[in-house]
Amino acid sequence: MSNPSADTMKREAAQAALGAVEPNMKLGLGTGSTAAHFVDLLGARVQAGLKVICVPTSERTREQAAALGIPLTTLDELPELDLVVDGADEFDASRRLIKGGGGALLREKIVAAASKRMFVITDATKEVKTLGAFPLPIEVDRFGAQSTQLHIERTARGLGLIGPIIQRRNKDQTPYITDGGHYIYDCSFGAIDAPELLAERLAAIPGVVEHGLFIDLATAIFVAGSQGVRILGNAA
Ligand code: 5RP
Repeated sequence: MSNPSADTMKREAAQAALGAVEPNMKLGLGTGSTAAHFVDLLGARVQAGLKVICVPTSERTREQAAALGIPLTTLDELPELDLVVDGADEFDASRRLIKGGGGALLREKIVAAASKRMFVITDATKEVKTLGAFPLPIEVDRFGAQSTQLHIERTARGLGLIGPIIQRRNKDQTPYITDGGHYIYDCSFGAIDAPELLAERLAAIPGVVEHGLFIDLATAIFVAGSQGVRILGNAA
């Protein structure tokens, strides 16, 4: 039997997480190709009569969900959610994540922090022993961004993390701007041995709006692989 494609695995993870959705839940909707499968599957359930109310983590997800008729609101209207379902760029055995490959890390983290539970949906290729193979995205305020970049570089070097810090750009080479109006710097530090410490130091830099290390947020990770979907953590 041939191995399932990455896209098939993403959909399987999304389908498994959908099993936890109950009527009248307040849900956060993640961003990215895996989260898009979840939104798609949820949309079909809503069209079949399921009642839920959702907060999207990006304008992209908002558009997708609205087109499917999923009822939407904001955290201002609904500051506490039951569950957010989102993807990740990388995860380890302690359910620590790197997120932000799709540029939505700030809203994703705000929504995750507002949710009682965070289910991450992913395929097995994203599991790592040590975080950092995927460049860490850092969202930076546009004011003084060059200074902030220098500060990030020095802070990382202080922890022995050396590697290119590249400002994310669109295909036409214009700076990539997040939904919140900020820049993103992708940091190829390599293995991050102390993610908690790096997270703390990055958060203390003026100009850093948010970083893509998600620690103590994921309650369960649905990992789709060739043998089906495995759950890391507590999905009850
Ligand atoms: C967006 C994210 C995504 O969840 C992450 O990039 C994974 O994306 P995909 O499911 O397309 O692989 O953090 O900011």
